[in-house]
Amino acid sequence: MGGRTPIEPQRVDAPLTSSATFLVLSVKLDDDDAINTVRSTLASVEGLSKNVSIRDLNASFACTVGIGSDAWDRITRQPRPAELHPFREFHGKKHSAIATPGDLLFHIRAQRRDLCFEFERQLLDSLGDAVSVIDETVGFRYFDVRDLLGFVDGTANPVGPAVTESIVVTEQDDAASAGGSYVVVQKYVHDIAAWRKMSTEQQEKVIGRTKLENVELDDAPDGQQQSHKSLATIEDDQGEEHDILRDNMPFGSPGSKEFGTYFIGYSRKLWVTEKMLCRMFIGEPPGMHDRILDFSRPLTGTTFFAPSATQLASLGDS
Ligand code: HEM
Repeated sequence: MGGRTPIEPQRVDAPLTSSATFLVLSVKLDDDDAINTVRSTLASVEGLSKNVSIRDLNASFACTVGIGSDAWDRITRQPRPAELHPFREFHGKKHSAIATPGDLLFHIRAQRRDLCFEFERQLLDSLGDAVSVIDETVGFRYFDVRDLLGFVDGTANPVGPAVTESIVVTEQDDAASAGGSYVVVQKYVHDIAAWRKMSTEQQEKVIGRTKLENVELDDAPDGQQQSHKSLATIEDDQGEEHDILRDNMPFGSPGSKEFGTYFIGYSRKLWVTEKMLCRMFIGEPPGMHDRILDFSRPLTGTTFFAPSATQLASLGDS
């Protein structure tokens, strides 16, 4: 056992940057040449990242790769992560979290848009026609990490050692997948006109924090309408809280009246993110859904597993 290579996670804990690209691809899963191209490209992502990050070492460039449930076996030829399955849909009385396709996710981030652009260009050159693009969303930082609803987004994220604890699968959890993370993405578009018709106080009740100062509001009494913050707080049967790491980014274009939030959540346990979605869409108590959904509609919903960097690099071995 002593000679085993230590398992290195990918850069899942990289800091929020001012620019990010979320690239979701499908792979020609029935084509052996395509699979080989994808395997060798994934194995060389660390090298590709170095090509780009060296251009500006202060720009915090990082790329994380996720592999979807339907593609996992063909691409990795390795045991499946214990909880990996296609995105679980939730259909509430009024709103639905829908599942959409995706075999590969690239979460590309840097302080400079040109570095994200250049990496994506080199990556897609390498993948060639083994893949096709399902969705490409370019996110940007909006003032002091606010979403386009105007609220500071990411405050309750774990920090320091709690990051790894919340998002990296351990040997004890699932030895074959240790060092990896579950990743859930949803691309939301907002009805900004309707949101703006509400007073700041009403908006604050929806989110569960004050808008200007970002101070947490008390939970509503049991049985009453809960805020987004309360619905997204997850406790297990022992009363222990479980966190995920969100690297949400705004995206959009006023000219085409598009205002969005790209939600991305990393977790050590997939059920935690799924329970958040369940409480948001079905409601707690059921029927009292998250009011953020009256102004935000998910266009996509896909689940991935981001294997450790060690496992990713091993795809180039055969
Ligand atoms: C908290 C925005 C979707 C999970 C928050 C906060 C904002 C926000 C402003 C409060 C500040 C903070 O702690 O970050 C949004 C927007 C969304 C969205 C604009 C999309 C329209 C989601 C989804 C999930 C989620 C889909 C999970 C599946 C969380 C969690 C918290 C949070 C875990 C922290 C709760 C706590 O205080 O412990 N979100 N969110 N969010 N959100 Fe969201």
